[in-house]
Formats: sequence, C-alpha cells, structure tokens
Amino acid sequence: MSRKNQTLGEFIIENQASFKYTSGELSRLINSIRLAAKVVNHEVNKAGLVDIIGTAGDTNIQGEDQQKLDVYANDKFIQTLKNRNIVCGIASEEEDTFISINSRDENNQNKYIVLIDPLDGSSNIDVNVSVGTIFSVYRRVTPVGTPVTIDDFLQKGSQQVAAGYVVYGTSTMLVYTTGDGVNGFTLNPAIGTFYLSHPRMEFPVDGTIYSVNEGNYIHFPQGVKNYIKYCQMEEGDRPYTSRYIGSLVSDFHRNMIKGGIYMYPKSSKSSNGKLRLLYECNPMAFLAEQANGKASDGFNRIMDIDPTELHQRVPFICGSKNMVEKLEEFMRDVK
Ligand code: AHG
Ligand code: MN
Ligand code: MN
Repeated sequence: MSRKNQTLGEFIIENQASFKYTSGELSRLINSIRLAAKVVNHEVNKAGLVDIIGTAGDTNIQGEDQQKLDVYANDKFIQTLKNRNIVCGIASEEEDTFISINSRDENNQNKYIVLIDPLDGSSNIDVNVSVGTIFSVYRRVTPVGTPVTIDDFLQKGSQQVAAGYVVYGTSTMLVYTTGDGVNGFTLNPAIGTFYLSHPRMEFPVDGTIYSVNEGNYIHFPQGVKNYIKYCQMEEGDRPYTSRYIGSLVSDFHRNMIKGGIYMYPKSSKSSNGKLRLLYECNPMAFLAEQANGKASDGFNRIMDIDPTELHQRVPFICGSKNMVEKLEEFMRDVK
C-alpha cells in the first residue's frame, strides 16, 4: 500500500508487483530517470548564476534553436539511461534519429525503449519560469538481442508501459504512471529525496481553466475558435479563466490539479500543430487517461494514432473529460 510521504524508492519497490512485467527492470528504469531528474534539477536551479542560459548555437532536426539546457538535459538523461542495462533504444527531441544501445551484457537482454523531451518549455529557461522533462516507455517489438529498428519507436501510445514528467517549478516534482493510476513525488532538495506528496492524482471531471496560445487565434480551425468563444461567454461558471505558461508540462500539471483544458490545435500556419506525438502527446495522453482525463486530436483518441515518423506532430487537446468532449462537439459541428 502506498503511503503519503513514503520515498519514491520505497514506492517503486512496494509497487513492483503491480507492474504488468515484474522482472524489476522497469523499476530500475524509473530509478534511473529519478537520478537524471535530480542532476538536471540541480542545473536548472542554478540557471541564473552560471553560464547555462541562452542558445547553444545549434538547431535541432525540427529547426528549433537548442538552448544550452536542452543539450545538457539531453546528455544527462541519455547518459543515465545508457549506464543501466535496461534500455535498448532511446529517441529524443534533440536527436535527429534514434540511438541504439549496445548492452554491456553479452546476451543483450535489454527490452525497453525510451522516448524523451529532455527539456520542455525551453523558451522559459531564460526568464525563470517552470520547465519540465517528459518521458515515455515501451517494450521493444523486434527480437531481444538484435539492434533496435524504427518499428520499436513507432508504436501506438496505447502500447506504453510507463510515462511521466518532471516539473522544475516552485518545487520539483516527478509525476508518473505505469498503468495503475498517477502518482506525484516532490523533491526535498535539502536531502535529495523524492517523497510521495500527490498520491492518485486525478483531473476533476470539469474545470474552469482553458490554456491555449491565443496569439494564434486567427489561424485556428473554426471549431476551436467557436470553443474559445464558448469559454469566454457568460453563462453558469463561465467565462472560464485563461492560463497559459507555454510549458506543456506546467500547463498540464496545473490543469490536472485544478481542472482545465490544454489546446495546441492545428492552424493555418502549421497543419499538424506543434507538439510531437511520440515524446510529448502520447506520454501526456497516457497520464491524462490514467488520471481520469482525456486526450484527443480534436476528433480521435491520441493513443490510437498509428505513428509514421519519429518527430511527427499532431494537434493536441487534453484535460478534464467534460471539457475535452465539449471541444470535440464543437469540432464535429463544423466538420
Ligand atoms: P519544447 O521546449 O520542448 O520545444 O516544447 C515547447 C512546447 C510546449 O512545451 C509548449 O506548450 C509549447 O511548445 C508552446 O508553444 P508556443 O510558444 O507556440 O505557444
Ligand atoms: Mn516540449
Ligand atoms: Mn524540449
């Protein structure tokens, strides 16, 4: 039984038996993410003091400027995951293609695939606003002992065995699921230990917060425009409140606690929206569903999308169930 204030280490051990696969490897994988999160947290927390803010001078495959902390977090997570003999492949927002890991174990029994957004919301680093890390875990589909292929990474979100995020906010939290609900752990920085502070997190079924970059309003599909107008109309508990941090992790975290909807729809500028299916939308969708919320591309369930590319983008709507369903209603009405 999980208890409030138990450490993440204790929680992982006690809950190992409830994992779908109980060999202990998934526990070790979560443990390595816990370690990398602490290392990255330490660096993020010093961001104003040392020379780690600003761009690294490179762009990633998606043409976005890489920030120094993007590169730092990417290196730390990859290094930490490589160091344990559990993961056979990693894909990251900051890497052009996937990385195949040669196990030190000669039988090469590593089964797990990890996809990460090492630093989410990186435009917020320089201004001391919350950022995060997102991760998604699958079992490989190709035979154990052979090099991983793209097929191991292009799995539907519904095949995830674990997913989670770290939010480097006013406090640092690690929130994750292995398919048995969502639990949140807060880091006590004085002793470097995560404690279970938010057991069994759930989205309220309804909410009064909508989160969207309204600067893109004129480019949105008519259904989204109509829904935003509905949010702003006076009736019942409306108008809703608008809150947009610009870090998916932070916006999601707030909405899960308070009740709300997050939207990054497609627009006339970007036909598939901005967020990446494999390491942003799917892990957040898995968490949302495990927390009694919902994630959709406006019409269909995110976790049912058959991926075709590593860095594929999709429209992303996520949050309190009734709010997401209302948005889908508006989308259908103008189809
Ligand atoms: P990343 O920093 O990993 O590239 O992700 C940024 C994402 C997401 O976190 C956020 O919700 C969204 O981009 C903000 O985009 P806009 O600035 O276009 O609103
Ligand atoms: Mn991101
Ligand atoms: Mn990122």
